Amino acid sequence: MFYRATENDHGLAFDPFKSCVVPRPIGWISTISPDGVPNLAPYSQFQILTFDPHYVMFAANQKTDGSRKDSAFNAEQTGEFVYNMATYELRQAVNISAQEVPADVDEFKLAGVGKAPSRLVKPYRVKESPVQYECRYHQTLRLPGKSVLGTVDVVIGEVLAVHIKDEFIMPGGKLDIIGMKPIGRLGYYDFTCVETSFEMVIPGSNEELRAGMEGRAAD
Ligand SMILES: Cc1cc2nc3c(=O)[nH]c(=O)nc-3n(C[C@H](O)[C@H](O)[C@H](O)COP(=O)(O)O)c2cc1C
Repeated sequence: MFYRATENDHGLAFDPFKSCVVPRPIGWISTISPDGVPNLAPYSQFQILTFDPHYVMFAANQKTDGSRKDSAFNAEQTGEFVYNMATYELRQAVNISAQEVPADVDEFKLAGVGKAPSRLVKPYRVKESPVQYECRYHQTLRLPGKSVLGTVDVVIGEVLAVHIKDEFIMPGGKLDIIGMKPIGRLGYYDFTCVETSFEMVIPGSNEELRAGMEGRAAD
């Protein structure tokens, strides 16, 4: 099939767009409001942007009433946010934390997860999550939408610190991703869970290319 994305005339019962880039990692973003209320919400429009230095982004569409999502607002106002890895074990809590609730609701409590203090930033980390990044807000790129929901704040942050639960660090120095069981989105209401992996090295790759692939800075 072919359709013009600008017209969105795909003719299917369900819009295929979000299912064509999968699985999308879920940035489970914690922030703290200017009034000190802990906030937590999942963002599958989330990615690592680069690694030297380390930058990540999440893209927050506007709320249904046209206001900005709390995670974007808090990150900008306080200058900080935390990425927590969303896992299969934590899937129900991830989903509960996606509810649109008033800004004065502590979404850690709502989702029933523990608060672990961060070292360099104020927002708490999700205690049960195997990985967290402490991030300093860098910039927002605001993309105008064709609808209220379509307008989006792409929030970029620099990663200041990384936490990894020791039990998921394997003797050879790699992470036990399969053991962590991160979840990703497949579009619609469908999710997947990382349960298998395979290795590929670019044929004939030199040291510089390998450095990039491995996420280390080349000299
Ligand atoms: C798995 C999952 C992924 C989501 N990804 C996004 C996203 O990328 N962008 C977005 O605006 N909303 C996304 N949502 C919806 C937000 O989590 C939801 O609007 C939430 O209430 C925002 O909370 P906040 O206002 O506290 O930031 C997602 C929801 C779920 C369950």
